[in-house]
Order: sequence, then structure tokens, then C-alpha cells
Amino acid sequence: MTASVLRLAAAACLAAAFASSATAAPEDRNARVEELLSQMTIEEKAGQLNFVSIVPVLEPAYEDVTRRIAEGSVGGLFNVYGAEQTRTLQEIAVTKTRLKIPMILAMDVIHGYRTVFPTPLAQAASWDMAAIENAERVATVESTAAGVNMIFTPMLDVSRDPRWGRVVEGAGESPWLAARIGEARVRGIQGADLKKPDNAASCVKHFGANGAVEGGRDYSALDLSPRALKATYLPPFEAASRAGVRCFMGAFNATDGRPTITNRHLLTDVLRGEWGFTGVVTSDFQAIKELPDHGTAADLADSAQQALVAGADLDMESRAYVKEIPELVRAGKLDVAVVDEAVRRVLRLKDDLGLFEDPYRGATPDREKREIFTDAQKAAAQDMAEKSFVLLKNDGVLPFAPDVKRVALIGPLGDSAADTLGPWAARGEPNETETLKQGLERRLGEGGEVLATHGGAVEDSTDEEIAAAVETARRSQAVVLAVGERFNQSGESAARSELGLPGHQEKLVRAVLAAGKPTVVVVFAGRPLALSSLAERAPAILYAWQPGTMGGPALARLLMGDVEPKGRLPMTFPRSVGQIPIHHEALPTGRPAETPIKPFTTGYGDSTYGALYPFGYGLTYTSFAFGPPKLDRERLAKGESAVVSVAVRNHGRRDGEAVVQLYLRPKVAEVSQPMRTLRGFARVALKAGETKTVELTVAEKDFGYWKSETDFGATPGPIEVMTGPDAANVQTTTLTYAP
Ligand code: BGC
Repeated sequence: MTASVLRLAAAACLAAAFASSATAAPEDRNARVEELLSQMTIEEKAGQLNFVSIVPVLEPAYEDVTRRIAEGSVGGLFNVYGAEQTRTLQEIAVTKTRLKIPMILAMDVIHGYRTVFPTPLAQAASWDMAAIENAERVATVESTAAGVNMIFTPMLDVSRDPRWGRVVEGAGESPWLAARIGEARVRGIQGADLKKPDNAASCVKHFGANGAVEGGRDYSALDLSPRALKATYLPPFEAASRAGVRCFMGAFNATDGRPTITNRHLLTDVLRGEWGFTGVVTSDFQAIKELPDHGTAADLADSAQQALVAGADLDMESRAYVKEIPELVRAGKLDVAVVDEAVRRVLRLKDDLGLFEDPYRGATPDREKREIFTDAQKAAAQDMAEKSFVLLKNDGVLPFAPDVKRVALIGPLGDSAADTLGPWAARGEPNETETLKQGLERRLGEGGEVLATHGGAVEDSTDEEIAAAVETARRSQAVVLAVGERFNQSGESAARSELGLPGHQEKLVRAVLAAGKPTVVVVFAGRPLALSSLAERAPAILYAWQPGTMGGPALARLLMGDVEPKGRLPMTFPRSVGQIPIHHEALPTGRPAETPIKPFTTGYGDSTYGALYPFGYGLTYTSFAFGPPKLDRERLAKGESAVVSVAVRNHGRRDGEAVVQLYLRPKVAEVSQPMRTLRGFARVALKAGETKTVELTVAEKDFGYWKSETDFGATPGPIEVMTGPDAANVQTTTLTYAP
């Protein structure tokens, strides 16, 4: 037999093996992967590591991609969705290629597939892990019905610079909160059994310190100590790894001169060595191809070699692996064992996804019809939206009185479906999105009236438009001003250097406020904006973020008091851009800031030091009194945990939910520790007049810290235990750690 006949015979055996694999015991799975690997040419191996973005059917490049799939040089496709399309493409892989290996079919499902939930940052504001997990569940049920088997989510980049457009995709500034959110989202996507056709592989991103980009400029490099990387940027990724996430995507940028995708220390020593991660690592979009631009690789071959050796298994859209690996191996510059290890991981993931048994994972147009955009899914999106809004200010305007029937809805965002959906809304349809105008109209019903006028565009308003808006306000009983950012002013490649309301919206707001009606400003935005002047003037401010498909009804219910505001800020809101970076984990200084401003202290000569709205902040329609933290012991021995109790009283006239937050600080540490760092919280529902005591626990791991990049531990001595409604309003007690 010639070599090629031999290979064909082997392929036939493998196909037969796959046909019977539905009954194969799990312990046989690796054997199947090994057997397959042993049959592959180096070109086929390189093909398995090639992750390609699909283009629409009508584009000329579409044919090129399908040809590549057929020749076995595509291991995974992304930007691919729709049962019909995914089946057509997968069919090429499993019928036309020599080894009939199915492809990973991936998509960026950032905050919902067709039923769009609030943006990830907005979801983080819910501080509600069950709701966040459920949002991913809905998104994954929809995506898998459409043939997607891997989701490029969650983004867990700790974000402390709202100039960075991608803060909208993340979980905010707290590594601890982002870690909890990451776990919830991974659970929601992957479920307990990856083989189940409505679960998908989750790809957490962007491993490294993408969120630390300098000046908020996307993709920019930074110089970060390895200890700070461990303490601040890596905890959410470690939590995702522990939660069993199956894929990591490396960050575009470099943290210490070495672009993440060639940082073997991070991709292999930390990720696989320290954390025991066994899944796949992918590069970000064309990140390998861009290495020569970083000045750390000579050409495409050098880039491919460096990235693969560092631990990047999949090459997303650089086509560097598929082009260069065969020659690198033949020339003896790359050990084939390194290639094999990467291919092995990719094949194992395919096996774990059940792709060898059913490459389509049951995705059919019929299932799409049944499982996408159902009433229950829309209800979940609305519930999540209601939980994500943050009430920043309320002089008593909200909720509107029941006799408010004629509401002026003014501003460019009150009836803009795309801006209600937010950035990167997958298959979300603006024409299926309920805007604030629609929500208010429905809520006010018969006998109610919404007087809507946009008052200009986000980018610009004329004096006439503003005058017309003021006129509308005068004719109303109450005014809702819907202002903020357009959906595409945040997201990837959407950094901003100014964070006020864009265009002439500030002028519009001032003019309308001068009409003197009870007015709430509803801010739509992907990031914290600098709202100082609004905060001075507006009687009420509600942060709506970008609330998704059901944003309109959710907002209307909140404004009318059918539901209580429940959100708390996952990022600090600055007074001005000049205060950035500003966050609750500030390090201490020998010259702390004082109010009023005192010379030779940290801070600014022209502005107070504090935030406009601190991390964890959010009002409700009632008010709470927080008692001091009480410990069940004064000293904590090794292995013990202490219980902190806080009594909370609802002394308002409505029911509501308080979020008791726990911050810790080792008073004396080997390396300076943040003044406070979030280490727990509890949400408690309280009826008007009710008091409840909330208990939180503190253990060594909670006040332990990174002394160096490799040494995590606690220092004996006093630990400040702080509790309260937000990071800037805490009461403190002290626990002594005496191991
Ligand atoms: C983004 C990733 C995304 C990828 C694929 C990149 O530009 O940084 O977050 O998953 O594209 O769409």
C-alpha cells in the first residue's frame, strides 16, 4: 500500500470509530484523540490550530474560507451563527476533509444572542450572581440552538479607567467582584456537562492586563509589576479557571514589554502550572500577526514560533500557524511535540463538546424557532435590566406619583432602539427592542400621554430643537430626560478622552431643567461618565447603562415605582477626567488627602480628591441605617473564620433591598495594601420599618495578599474590617490575626 492509501484506510477506520463513539466510555476518549493525532499530517495539525472568521455568504472571500475548510486547514470558525449556516459549514468539515474532524464554531455573545440583556458592566451593577448566571444561560441556550459551540465571553478585564471603551464589556473595578461574576458566567455558559447540546465552551478574555491599557487607549502597552498583575488583574481569571472554563483568550497588549501572546510565563507557567488549566488558549484577533509591530518578532514565522512555544494553541485570524508551522517543523525550528500538544488540547475540547458524536449538536432551524426569543427569555432580560439600574440622585422626584399621566420624554436616547441595545449586541434586533418611549407609553396606558421630543441628536442640537424641548417640558406633569452616549461610543476601539455628555446635551439638560418640572435624568452609557455638573443641577439621576431588548419597560416600571432600584456601582464615578484612575482600592500614602484641600497632601489643588459617586453606591426608594460591624471574636487563629454581623434598618416608607458590603485591610503588611478592598457582600430585603442582621465571614484568604509574585499569605496582626453601604461610607472594627 502506498502512504496515501494507508492514510485513507486509517481515516475510514477512524470514521467507523466515531460512528460508534456515542457509546464510547469516557476513558476511551483520549485514546480516540491520540489515534486521530497519530494519523495527521503536519499540515492537518496546523489546520486544527487555525481559527478563522467567516465572512457573509455573498462576499468573495466566503468561497475561499469554504475551500480552506474542505482542505482541512480550518480548526475553528468564528462570527458564525444560524443553524442553517453552521450546519452547511460544519458539513463541509465532516464530509469533505480527509479526517472528517468537526470545527469549533464560536461567536462573541457578549450580553445575549437575540434576547439582549443589559451590557456586562450593567449586569455587574446588579450584584446578583444568580441573575447574571441566568443571563448567560439564556444567551447560551439561544446561541447553541443557532449552532454556536464556543462563546467568547466573559471578558473579565479589571477596569479602572472609564476612558477605555471596553469597560462596558467587563465586570468593573473590583478583582473580587469580577471573580464572582466570572464564576457565575462560566457556570451559566458551560453548565455541569459540556456535552449537553445547550451548553457551550466559554472563552474567558483577555488574559493578562488588557484592562490596564495606558490612558484608556485600546491595545496600548503598560509596565506593570508582576505582583500587581497577580493582585489586581489575574484574580478573576484564576477564578474562571477554577470554575472550569475551557478556553482562555490572551490579551493584545504587553504588561512588561512582552506581548501576552508570547508570554510563556503567563500562558504556561501561571495558567497551566500554577492554576492547572488544561483547556485551550487562543490568541486574540490577528494578535500573532501583529507581533512584528510590537517590535518583538522579526516576521510571521518568528511570530508563530514564539506564540506557539509560549502556549497559545489557537491562532485567531493571523493565518500564521497554518502558513508557518509545517515549514518551521521541517526546518527543525519547532518541535513537533509542541504542535501535538496544542492539537491534542483542541481535539479534546471537540471531544468534550460531543462534536464527534454530533457535529451539529442538534442545532436545527426548528430548534432555533422554539428556543430563541421566547417570552420567558424576554422576561429574564427585563428582570436583569430592572436589577441593573443605579439610582444616583433623588431629591424626591422618583418614583413618579401615581397621578402623573402626562410625561415629557426629552432627549436623543428616549426612542433609540440601537442605543438601548448597546454595543456588540450579537443578533439583537433594534426593531425587536422596546425603547423607553414604548415602555412609558405601555406603562401609562389609556389616559396617559408621552410627549416625546429628541431635542437634537447625541452629537449636536440646534437652539430651535432645544427650545422645542423646553416647550414640551412645560406642557407636561413630569419630565424624563434621556441622554448619554451612543451605543458605539463605548466598546472595542471606542476610547474617549472626555467623559461629559457628548454634543450639546448638557445645554439641553440645563434648558429643560430650567422649566422647573419634576425631572429625572436617565443616562444611557457604556461607562461611568463624569457627571459633576448634572449632579449639581438635576433633581434625580438614574443610570440606565444600555439595558437591552427589554430596557424600555424595565425603566418605565422603575420610574413609576412598580419596582425598587437595586443596582450598585461596579466602578467609581469620577468628578472629572483628571481624577482618573480613581477606584476604591487606592493605596495609602504618607500624605493622605484632606478636605478642605491642604497643601502638601495627595490630591488636586483644583478639585476635591473624592469620587462623585463611590464604588458600591446606589440609592433606593427607601433609606437604610447601617449599624457598626460586630465580630464574634477579637482574635482569629489559623484556619478559623470570623463572623461579622451588621444590623440594617429600613427607616423609610417603602420596602427595599440593602447591599451590605465588606471591605478589609491588613493594617500592617509587608507591602503596602489598598485602603480597602471588597471581600464580600450580602443583599438583604427589608420591609419598611424592618431591621435585620446580616452575617458575613472573614477568613485568612480574605485578608491574605501577594507579598511578591509568588508568595501569597497573611501577616499576623490587626485587620481592619469595614462594612457599609458603599466603599466611601464604612464603619470599622479590628480583628487580630493570631495564627
Ligand atoms: C476582541 C475579542 C473578540 C475577538 C473576536 C477582538 O478584536 O478583542 O474580544 O473576541 O475580536 O471577535
